[in-house]
Order: sequence, then structure tokens, then C-alpha cells
Amino acid sequence: MKQRTLVLLKPDAVNRRLMGELIARFEKKGLKIVAMKMLKVPREMAERHYEVHRGKPFYESLIEYITSGPVVAMAIEGDNAIAVVRKMMGKTNGQEAEPGTIRGDYSMSIQNNLVHGSDSEESAHRELSIFFRPEEIVEYEMADERWI
Ligand code: RTP
Ligand code: MG
Repeated sequence: MKQRTLVLLKPDAVNRRLMGELIARFEKKGLKIVAMKMLKVPREMAERHYEVHRGKPFYESLIEYITSGPVVAMAIEGDNAIAVVRKMMGKTNGQEAEPGTIRGDYSMSIQNNLVHGSDSEESAHRELSIFFRPEEIVEYEMADERWI
């Protein structure tokens, strides 16, 4: 089933100059980037994005982290894209994430874990609407689509 998901390259990914490597992983997998922008997330937007975590012990620190520098937001499309991206990201805690996953390969932290990916269709829909207006999503066909 074709799905769209919101992926964020978090401030540590930008500051560690890993944007290109991480974007390349999603491209090489066969996923399709249908929107992309760099922005500094305002506090109010961060609070909406992470509203399910409000009140948790790590919430304040999480908001501080995600607003601490630029992020790259992407709408990524593909067959079962939500689960595929989550699998590519690995477990939340970089120390527990499997090698071969993004967090397993690049993170030693439970908070500074480089990427965000929506965890359900409902959250994908909600989160995409926080970061992108409908007209910012680009509909196009990839030349290699029938090979993927
Ligand atoms: P994300 O939402 O960013 O894709 O990550 P996730 O689903 O793997 O993890 P989630 O439980 O939704 O937590 C959101 C983000 O909060 C930070 N975190 N810190 N200190 C802690 O115990 C803790 N737990 C989570 C991480 O940045 C995590 O990605
Ligand atoms: Mg999450």
C-alpha cells in the first residue's frame, strides 16, 4: 500500500554533517522524496509535533533539542513507507539499535538519535500537515519506478 511519512533529519544530523549520507540511504532503498525543506523548528511547532510526549520526563529536553538548530523535513513516499522507514531508523536508543540501521550506525544516544519517522498512518497524516502545506508535496513519477 502506497504511504507517505514524515521524516526529520534532526539537529544532530545537520550539525554532524550527515544530511547527505542519510538522504542517500532513503534514496538508495527505493523510497521517493516528494517534499523537502530545511527549517528551524519554532517551539510552538515542536510542541505540536511531539504533543504525545507532553508531561514525560524527557519532554522539555526533547523540545530544547529539536529546536536547537536546523532540521531537514521530508515527505517520503513508497509501498509501506511508514514501517520501512521505521525499520531503517532502528530502535530509539542508539546503543540498542541494530547495526545497519541509521541509529545503530550513527548514534550512541537515546535523545540525539538523528532521525524522526512517523509511527502510524494517523501520525504521518498529522505530522505531514504540521510541516508541509498540501501544495508543497510534489507529485511525480520516477524514471526507475518499475524497477523498484
Ligand atoms: P521519533 O518520534 O523521533 O521518530 O522517535 P521514536 O518514535 O523512536 O521515539 P519516541 O518514543 O517517539 O520519542 C521521541 C524522541 O524523544 C527522544 N527521547 N528521549 N531521554 C529519553 O528517555 C528519551 N526517550 C525518547 C528521542 O529523541 C526520541 O526520538
Ligand atoms: Mg515517535
